[in-house]
Order: sequence, then structure tokens, then C-alpha cells
Amino acid sequence: MCKVVYRHADGTETALDADEGQSLMNIAVQHGVPGIIGECGGELMCATCHVYVVSPETGGPATEEEDEMLEFAACPRRENSRLCCQLVVGPDVEFVVETPEAQR
Ligand code: FES
Repeated sequence: MCKVVYRHADGTETALDADEGQSLMNIAVQHGVPGIIGECGGELMCATCHVYVVSPETGGPATEEEDEMLEFAACPRRENSRLCCQLVVGPDVEFVVETPEAQR
């Protein structure tokens, strides 16, 4: 069991336990976490799952496809921007991400 923390632009946060192998987008959508839409279901076609990764570091390198799709994110891209449909929970990892003010 792993922990994922979503910090929201209004200062609140949502902390959830997650099973290994789930994407942060799927976890958020299943639990109705505000600020994550995941419109394309994780197919790298929407950028409505944009987050800023606080830890662990950037969550790893983005693929070329993710990197291109990040250009379409509604809020400004930062060095730690990722599409959370591409971030998968691993064993004993605690993810902390910030959700942007808007997704579209
Ligand atoms: S859910 Fe569409 S790019 Fe992540």
C-alpha cells in the first residue's frame, strides 16, 4: 500500500492510500479528487491530468509524447510538471503532487 497526497491550489489536500501499479490520474478520478480530470483516460491526448510533482523529485523523466502534450496544459508548465496518468505508484513510494488552478 502506498500513499498519494494531492495538494490543491486553495491550500487543502487529499491524502489517499493506493495499490501499487495504479496511476495517480486513475486514483484521483476514482476518488473524485478535485483538480484532476483525466478526460482521455490516460491516452496522452488531453493534458487534463497536469500536476506539479513535489516528491519524489520529478517522478522520473517524461517520455517525448508526454513532453509534447504538456505544452497543452491549461496552467503554466514548470520544471516539475508531469501528466499524472503517466505516474504509477510503486512499492513504498509516497507521491506528493500539487494540482494546478485549472485543467482547461
Ligand atoms: S488523462 Fe489525458 S493526458 Fe493524462
